[in-house]
Amino acid sequence: MSIDKLAAAHSAWLPPRALQAIKARRVAVHGAGRLVETVREEVGTTVTEDAELILRLSSERLGDEGFALYRRDGVTVVLADAPAGLLYGFFHVVRLGEAAFAGEWPVERHVPAMRRRMLDHWDNIDVHPVMGQVERGYSGGSIFWRDGVPRDLDRVRVYARLLAATGINAVAINNVNVHATEARLLTDRLGEVVAVAEVFRPYGIRVHLSVSFAAPVMLGGLPTADPLDEGVRGWWAQTTQRVYAAIPDFGGYVVKADSEGQPGPFGYGRSHADGANVLADALAPFGGVVHWRAFVYNHRQDWRDRSTDRARAAYDHFAPLDGKFRDNAILQVKHGPIDFQTREPVSPVIAAMPATSVAVELQVTQEYTGQQRHAVYLGPMWSEILGFRLTSEADVAGLARELVAVSNVGDDPFWTGHPLAQANLYAFGRLAWDPTLDPLSILDEWVDLALGPDVDRAALHAILDDSWRTYESYTAPLGVGFMVRPGHHYGPDVDGYEYTPWGTYHFADREGVGVDRTRATGTGFTGQYPQPWSDVYESLERCPDELLLFFHHVPYEHVLHSGSTVIQHIYDTHFAGAERAVEMRRLWERLAGQVDPELDARVRERLDEQVRSAAEWRDQINTYFHRKSGEPDAKGRQIY
Ligand code: GCU
Repeated sequence: MSIDKLAAAHSAWLPPRALQAIKARRVAVHGAGRLVETVREEVGTTVTEDAELILRLSSERLGDEGFALYRRDGVTVVLADAPAGLLYGFFHVVRLGEAAFAGEWPVERHVPAMRRRMLDHWDNIDVHPVMGQVERGYSGGSIFWRDGVPRDLDRVRVYARLLAATGINAVAINNVNVHATEARLLTDRLGEVVAVAEVFRPYGIRVHLSVSFAAPVMLGGLPTADPLDEGVRGWWAQTTQRVYAAIPDFGGYVVKADSEGQPGPFGYGRSHADGANVLADALAPFGGVVHWRAFVYNHRQDWRDRSTDRARAAYDHFAPLDGKFRDNAILQVKHGPIDFQTREPVSPVIAAMPATSVAVELQVTQEYTGQQRHAVYLGPMWSEILGFRLTSEADVAGLARELVAVSNVGDDPFWTGHPLAQANLYAFGRLAWDPTLDPLSILDEWVDLALGPDVDRAALHAILDDSWRTYESYTAPLGVGFMVRPGHHYGPDVDGYEYTPWGTYHFADREGVGVDRTRATGTGFTGQYPQPWSDVYESLERCPDELLLFFHHVPYEHVLHSGSTVIQHIYDTHFAGAERAVEMRRLWERLAGQVDPELDARVRERLDEQVRSAAEWRDQINTYFHRKSGEPDAKGRQIY
């Protein structure tokens, strides 16, 4: 399909309609540079005089990506120091639509909060027998490869444009679990990365690559990948030089090392800093960076061993290494201490390494939040995380240098499987640009752009505003996670992981439930937090209800701040959550006839599944805890 056709069919938040307000006006674009050319291409016909919209390079001290805009005497003006800023200013005008051409307003300055706003694709070239082509992908196959070879990149061009419109400026194109075929993207398959980089470049997006720490052995034929070995250092330096010869603006490497079976420095008795630094040194001469993931834990735990706590692992491994990483090594930390659960506290690692650049990693792909079959708008969750005051001086957004997220995009015609999941990708980019934006206003932006100004906005808000909390209510009570079916992680299985080596336990017995992570009697994880959180989480009285079972093991009759008991809370939220899913399905009826029929059909199919699945969650969780506790439901409802 041609780009135009594809863009017109399901072009997410950039349908032709979104550019109408600009296309209907006389626009002048002043300045030179590849990204200024992109702005010209977007605008179509430009004028030199009498413009109603002027986009111009100037020097406003706004940095490489910032822009300023104002409207005076009937002219809207966008100013930027550099071409990228002009592009972001252009997309800001797109978001404003007609409002960009009404009234007069003083100068507004927009500068991104995060210098790098990055998406990680977990795409493979080959189709993996268990994980499929895109690991934890719920939107079809990869947009980069099909049948083992690169695809036509037209769709990637449209994607690049969509991402730039949200402010994203970096993309890692392959899975962090680097298999044999994909490892070769670094060497003999580099041409495929070159081609993708060419498509992203006009939109100000740099391409990064996930690489295997064992690459010197796998690809270079060296006897070792020891980061302190001279031959290994030389191999990385030379290989990286070749990458930059082909892609001068290459972003750098992403590495998952010593994690879930991936090779790493531990194999050679070296530290993660040693591992990251050899790659950082190879990248430094070219201005590249290495994203080194902190997702390191023992995945061969014995459930009988109560002293090992997966929540502690990242801090235990990395906090002692603060100050030992090169400046261009960025520690990429998942937002919570475990693994993208529906509800987790913020990871203490984010505050523990003041001398290290930290990137916070979010999961746009809905592995643990409904797999794009459930409508779950994640903006409110991320906004809560980013605004969380982890230290007395700063919130998470202030402590992080960058924001990274795992992409939810595939070759699905709606991009994200569930069409409403587009809002998550959109919101991620917008929050990475400005973490203080209201997630519900971001949702309005997406609705306006993607569905048009005439749809029943109130119905969409009623469906999506609380959808994350709704999902939490029928799947993850009070901070318990991982009650999912092992492997694919969809649907309920309360004990599915309870006796496995993965270290993800709820410890439910006939007396109570929850993980004791206190210093006094548990694993001591609470001690990794700065004050006041260290004491707040330690204290049964002060710990917030929504995280109670993450930090404490309590009897079913324990009374929450809400006044309910733990067991009654479990029953009530699961009944209410499943009812909410039915209500969401009913609310969507109000959009009938207002949206594209194919999109409508897809959303209905997903909402039907959500209703079915929420009832399954309700019944399995309630029945499990009913049987364990022997406590009746105070409201006498049917529990199986
Ligand atoms: C989760 C996910 C894996 C992924 C891992 C990671 O555990 O289930 O598929 O590889 O996170 O972030 O590396």
